[in-house]
Parts: sequence; C-alpha cells; structure tokens
Amino acid sequence: MPDDILQKAAESLRRAPPVLDPAELKEFVEKFLDRAPAFLAAAQAHGTPLYLFDRKTLLERAARFKAAFEAHLGSVQVFYAVKSNNHPEVARALAGFGLGLDVSSGLELELALEAGAAEIVFSGPGKTAGELDLAVARADRVTVLIDSFGELERLEKAAAGREVMVRAGVRLTTQESGLWRKFGIPLTRLEEFFETAAARPHVALGGLQFHTSWNLDPSAQVDFLARLGRSLADMSPAQRRAIEFLDIGGGFWPPKGEWLTWASTPPGRLAQAVEPGGPPSTGHFVNRAAPLDTFAQEIGRAIREHIRPHVAEFQIYTEPGRWLSHEAMHLLLRVVDKKAQDLVITDGGTNIIGWERFENEYFPVINLTRPADEERPCLICGSLCTPHDVWGSAYFGADIEEGDVLLIPCQGAYTYSLGQRFIKPLAKVATWSA
Ligand SMILES: Cc1ncc(COP(=O)(O)O)c(C=O)c1O
Repeated sequence: MPDDILQKAAESLRRAPPVLDPAELKEFVEKFLDRAPAFLAAAQAHGTPLYLFDRKTLLERAARFKAAFEAHLGSVQVFYAVKSNNHPEVARALAGFGLGLDVSSGLELELALEAGAAEIVFSGPGKTAGELDLAVARADRVTVLIDSFGELERLEKAAAGREVMVRAGVRLTTQESGLWRKFGIPLTRLEEFFETAAARPHVALGGLQFHTSWNLDPSAQVDFLARLGRSLADMSPAQRRAIEFLDIGGGFWPPKGEWLTWASTPPGRLAQAVEPGGPPSTGHFVNRAAPLDTFAQEIGRAIREHIRPHVAEFQIYTEPGRWLSHEAMHLLLRVVDKKAQDLVITDGGTNIIGWERFENEYFPVINLTRPADEERPCLICGSLCTPHDVWGSAYFGADIEEGDVLLIPCQGAYTYSLGQRFIKPLAKVATWSA
C-alpha cells in the first residue's frame, strides 16, 4: 500500500500542472485597467471594501446562457441559483429579465418572491415544516423539488393543510456513495416514488431534477442522463407520461476555467503535505473549462439519445449560478498598511468573501492607483487576526503604497453570499453605473 501511494505521488509530481498563459492573463487584466477611472470613482463615492455589482454584465451573461442552450435544446427555462449570489438586486435583475429563480431555503424563497420571480423552483435537503408551508402558500409560483420519501409526506401534509395542489418534481441522487448521497432519492427507487406520489392527492408530481457540481466539461451531466434513460425505460407508460419537466441543475464552469495557485495543484498539495510551510512557489495554473456551447450541445445530444425515446414531451429546466454571477461583481479594497516592500494589509479581510479562497484559487489583484500590466510579488493580506486572510501573493501595478485602491475582478459567485461578520464588518455593495 505505501509503495503504491509513493508511486502515485511520484507520477503526480512529474505531471506538470497546466500553466495559465501569461498573455491571456495580461489581456484579462488590461480589460479592467481600461475601466480604472470608473472603478476609482466608485471606491471614492462609496468607500472600501466594496462589492461593485455590474448589472449590465449579469444580464449579458443571462442572455448568452439562454441563447446557447436554446440553440441546442429548443425552449429552455432558466432558474438562477440564488445561493451563488444572494444580493437582492441580482435576483431582481434576473427576475426582471425573465429568468426563474432556484432557491434552497425559506430565506431564499422569501427573497425570490420579493424579487418578483414569476417561477421559482425550491430544491434542497431537509426542508422544514415552515419552509414547506411557505412554498405551499405560494403554490401559484413555486414548484417544490422533493428530496426524499419523507419530504413527500410532509409536503402532502402542508398542501392538504392549505387545501391546495402543489406542483412538484423529485431530486435524483447522482452519486449513491459518499457525501453526495445526501441529495435526492436513488434512481432505483424512482418508480416507487411515482407510485407513492400518485396516492398523495395534494402533490402533482410532474418532474425530475438532478444537479452535478463544479463541472469543467459536460461529462457528469451526460453520464447521468444515460443512467436516467435506463431507469425511465423501466417505468410504466403512465408514469412517463406524467413527466412534464426535466431539471438538469447547474454546475457549469465559467469559460476561463479554474485559476489555481501552485498550492492547489496536485504536485503543490503533495509538496505541502510532505513539507508544510515549505518554500512558497509562484506561478499560476489553470484547469481549462469547456465553453458553454459544448455543454449545451453535449447535454442536448444526451437528452435526445437517452431521454426523448421514453418521454416525448417535456420542458427542460436548468439552474445555473456561478456561470451567471461570477463576472457580475468585483471587489475593491484599499491598502491600509505597507509593512514592507513585499507585504501590505488591506482594509477588507476575507471575511467579506467568507472563505480562504485565495490560498487555493488565483485571481489577479490589480492596483488601480498605480496601474501597470506587470505583476510584482507582494503578499497582499486582509486585516483579520488570522494568517489565512490572504488576497494574493502579487499585484499588477507599477508599485504599491498606503491608500492605493486594489481591484479583484470577477468575485460574484460564492463570495458575497458567504460573507461572515467575523472580526470586521461585511463589505458594502454598490451598483456599477459606468
Ligand atoms: C441544486 C442546485 N442547483 C444549482 C446550483 C448552482 O450551481 P452552480 O453555481 O455551480 O451553477 C447548486 C449549487 O450548489 C445546487 O445545489
């Protein structure tokens, strides 16, 4: 066993991680440097730390998402996953654009109702009686994606209590072992679920949902659609006819791929395990992502091949979060203290994004006050009392001084909604008007 691990470790060390193309990075940074005066004006007007919400970009992303999927799948209903960025303006903008909203709690459901979404899907495990009651009370706009047999009974009770019929789907487990088995029911029990629901007079079961996460390409979705097709083949024609929608979830990685620090590449992780606190290594790496068009094309093909033969007429739903919100917010910080030429502290700490993202992920820190398209090494830390409060180990700029305004672009997904009141306050949010 140890020999086996050693051999795998040696292979991992030999496998060079893919390096992020410096020309691609420069081009990305220059796009933001071009808009430096407007970013600086926002920092001046609203103060820092600041999330700048770029509504125009959000709506462009929404239009592109819809167009890509409709080109390959015909009509598609898009439900924005509120959890990826739960700022009310984001939900309101997308609802106003005509998207539905995907929520995972009573809190998110209230937000979606207030945002004016015409259609809402409510998924997630362990919905409480209060959450189900709220969903049932708004059955005119809410479809409940049931997570278990027990939840089917609780939903029936809630709907009977209000004497309404609630539209529902059932979430399917995509991995029957490990942590992901907490979501949904296994495919092996799908037929039984439809049979049970048929005897529940207040629940109109008419759909299927699955979700796979962090997909750099569509293989996980395509593989599951093939498995689902085999299960559908075993269902009765009447059960199949009841299926009105298929919700393929979210999990589409944004097109630039996943940008990584050395520490999060396989050799970097190994080096850290063997020599914790060893010499820091520089460089930026990337896990490439398939373009959205490839996701739409491959998923479309899989639906035609595996699902359409069993269910002729149904609507396709999808629940993108990150793909829509990633580029829709940018973070502005100010340097408070320059402790050395290669060490600065900013006014915002990583409590405003809620996790130690930049220990693993790379994103450029751009000095808007002293712009330059060259990256210089410098440890950029937040002001929390923890050494893990790090924004980056370099900045794009000619120099860095106290009072300088720094931009970390594309911080719209799984940051704002994870913010914590840990030591420092949360960041303000302003809407980009440039
Ligand atoms: C059920 C469900 N749908 C959609 C999403 C959105 O995923 P993403 O932001 O990766 O598109 C999630 C994220 O966890 C989810 O759990």
